Amino acid sequence: MHSGRGLTALRAEIGDCQRCKLAKGRMHIVFGTGNPEANLMFVGEAPGADEDAQGEPFVGAAGQLLTKMIQAMGYQRQDVYICNILKCRPPQNRNPEPDEIAACEQFLRKQIAIVQPRVIVALGKFAAQFLCGETTPITRLRGNLRTFHEIPVMPTYHPAFLLRDASRKGEAWADLKQVMALLGHMGLR
Ligand code: URA
Repeated sequence: MHSGRGLTALRAEIGDCQRCKLAKGRMHIVFGTGNPEANLMFVGEAPGADEDAQGEPFVGAAGQLLTKMIQAMGYQRQDVYICNILKCRPPQNRNPEPDEIAACEQFLRKQIAIVQPRVIVALGKFAAQFLCGETTPITRLRGNLRTFHEIPVMPTYHPAFLLRDASRKGEAWADLKQVMALLGHMGLR
């Protein structure tokens, strides 16, 4: 099936999801955005207040930094696909809980299967540990390519963390440069 139609069907399958306790506090399910045929996918943690209000991932302060990171790589937001592990906002932006990830991860898995990105960038601890299948701290995971079902995964810092500690931006840029080199080797510029 065409990826765009596959994603539309998946969003319909999610429906007015009540599969976990986050349903009662959310305004919007934040499914994902961008190019259904993207070579490059970014996976974050969960929607924050701005994303919950607008129904789109990474539109708040961290999202603005992510957009700059994407542009620095030579892409526009609409060229790539952006989504999160959790599709609903945890209260007070607390960390995702295991039962919430267990209820929601099927949708990220299906998004990846539909989009079939050539490379995935995992933003922050939760996305990195989930996609890499490791509990290694993000400080040691980042910058080291792993795979998720044979798709290369580059773990890096979450842009919200980079907003709190700008001294880490150089490491994140080094990670993204590795991704650009990998895409270049694949003939994808
Ligand atoms: N942080 C995330 O992990 N995802 C978003 O969509 C916004 C902030």
